[in-house]
Amino acid sequence: MPTSSGTGEGWTGIGRGGDSMLTGERGDASGSEPIRKAWVISAPPLTSQSMVQAYGENARLCASPNPQVSLVFSRSRPLDLVELERLLEAVGWSRRPVRRVRRALENSLITVGLWRHDPRVPRLIGFARCTGDGVLEATIWDVAIHPLYQGAGLGRQLMDYLLDALRAMGTERVTLFADPGVLPFYERLGWELEPNGHRCAFWYAS
Ligand SMILES: CC(C)(COP(=O)(O)OP(=O)(O)OC[C@H]1O[C@@H](n2cnc3c(N)ncnc32)[C@H](O)[C@@H]1OP(=O)(O)O)[C@@H](O)C(=O)NCCC(=O)NCCS
Repeated sequence: MPTSSGTGEGWTGIGRGGDSMLTGERGDASGSEPIRKAWVISAPPLTSQSMVQAYGENARLCASPNPQVSLVFSRSRPLDLVELERLLEAVGWSRRPVRRVRRALENSLITVGLWRHDPRVPRLIGFARCTGDGVLEATIWDVAIHPLYQGAGLGRQLMDYLLDALRAMGTERVTLFADPGVLPFYERLGWELEPNGHRCAFWYAS
């Protein structure tokens, strides 16, 4: 996965206290909610040709509450690690060393950025990645939508995009670890909560 290097000293990572394990199926794409301040400023509309140029072959439009604001999922547009850090800090996660994060992204099976399109400087407003063998199993990590854009169906579409990519690889089972407060989000998307933690095991280096 391509990344562009940032100048910052750290990167934001996962805060995963009291995680629960989920296994999942894809949910349906959702509609939108009331337009907020974040949606007001607009950019020129995105054509399919300019979308591919800026975001790559696998890019897909994300339904936006404001038709004047184009949102795009991309697996191949390079990520600025400083921008990614800012996004993940905005959702409240703590930093991890940038070099380790860069390697983690490079070693991930799929990384997805959700971009608010701007012809000059697209802004990263969502992110998710997954690890896996590319055939049978995958695990999703770091699912985040910037707080200004939450509650508008973007998280659901982000998960759909990621699961579509995994399905295309033939992946048979997908797992993830969720903070307790976010479990209802995954359950709404059709994910199944691992029963009582009975089949879940962890090992920590320290
Ligand atoms: C969790 C997160 C990705 C959801 O993104 P989002 O764009 O706000 O979610 P959506 O608007 O697509 O919500 C989809 C559905 O889930 C529901 N939902 C979303 N977050 C929820 C929550 N925390 N608790 C309960 N329901 C939730 C929505 O109401 C919506 O339901 P509906 O389809 O019946 O209307 C986002 O809130 C986020 O980034 N949170 C901080 C980081 C985080 O905790 N990530 C998960 C790590 S395990």
